Amino acid sequence: MTASISDTLLAWYDRHARDLPWRLPPGAAMPDDPAWPYRVWLSEVMLQQTTVAAVKPYFAKFTSLWPNIAALAAAPEDDIMAAWAGLGYYSRARNLVKCANAVAARGGFPSTEAELRQLPGLGDYTAAAIAAIAFGQRAVVVDANVERVVARLFAIDTPLPSARKAIRVAADSITPAVRAGDFAQAMMDLGAQTCTTKSPRCLLCPLREACRAYAGGEPERLPVKPAKKAVPERRGTAFWITRADGAQVWLVTRPAEGMLGGMRALPDDGWSARADGSGVEPLAGDWRDYGAVRHGFTHAHLSLRVRGLETADTPPGEGFWWPVERIGEAGLATLFAKAAALAQAEA
Ligand code: ADE
Repeated sequence: MTASISDTLLAWYDRHARDLPWRLPPGAAMPDDPAWPYRVWLSEVMLQQTTVAAVKPYFAKFTSLWPNIAALAAAPEDDIMAAWAGLGYYSRARNLVKCANAVAARGGFPSTEAELRQLPGLGDYTAAAIAAIAFGQRAVVVDANVERVVARLFAIDTPLPSARKAIRVAADSITPAVRAGDFAQAMMDLGAQTCTTKSPRCLLCPLREACRAYAGGEPERLPVKPAKKAVPERRGTAFWITRADGAQVWLVTRPAEGMLGGMRALPDDGWSARADGSGVEPLAGDWRDYGAVRHGFTHAHLSLRVRGLETADTPPGEGFWWPVERIGEAGLATLFAKAAALAQAEA
């Protein structure tokens, strides 16, 4: 009898698993330590839409600042948002705080996929990943890497997102009852390193013989992506307002709801709530133009003008003066960090 897909893949994983800071070695028993599901949860939330390379330093920072769920739940939300700055998709950080509180209140993580799914910020993927990786439960774990591997293995050529149902059924059909966490991570590693979107390295693939897309000769064609929507262009203005000969800059905390919610930021002209910002300065004075920075969000490209003013007045609305020499510690989202760098270079 030929080996099953899961046996073949697990044998490959035993030899080729990536050594990652949130992982156990292949086949290792799960530690009976509450910090273990915490680390898996944290890594899986960070890895949503974000590369392993980008996540590594953030995972190290978070686990050293807050080694367990109780520590994270006790931390001031501002500190967590600031520590997340630069990783993007900031709603994840807000949900991280909510989830930490919920888990600390119930005395630890639940171990079933259904209960995990109830926690704030945990979607189908994350709940399944934690159930499998942290608790060894059989769960069907499908992220974009797994989606690609499965679409090719089974030659599913319906365009995404309609193909998701068939991909899930097919993924379910090859998910083993034991070592479900290793299996999920093996699929992710295969997708990230071998069954890549472009130029898949089929000759190195342990599943080549079973792969219907390989047999068909055009694995790169799958999965079929939906037509790309045009990304709208947005315009806005951020304000670099300083006092004391440029030693301090006026920062705000953005409203909890909405884009970059809860993050420290430069004041701006309201571009995120409207199609374009008003361009209106928050106080009168001799403003200087520093140019513009560009930033890509998932749903829009933003061109953000940066304007500067040195003033003796306090700007209107809520905000606070922050030492410019410590701007790197303010926890500005990447967009505002770029704007601050431009202002500092031009001022
Ligand atoms: N992407 C999401 N979760 C992952 C994991 N556990 N290992 C590697 N890549 C991942």
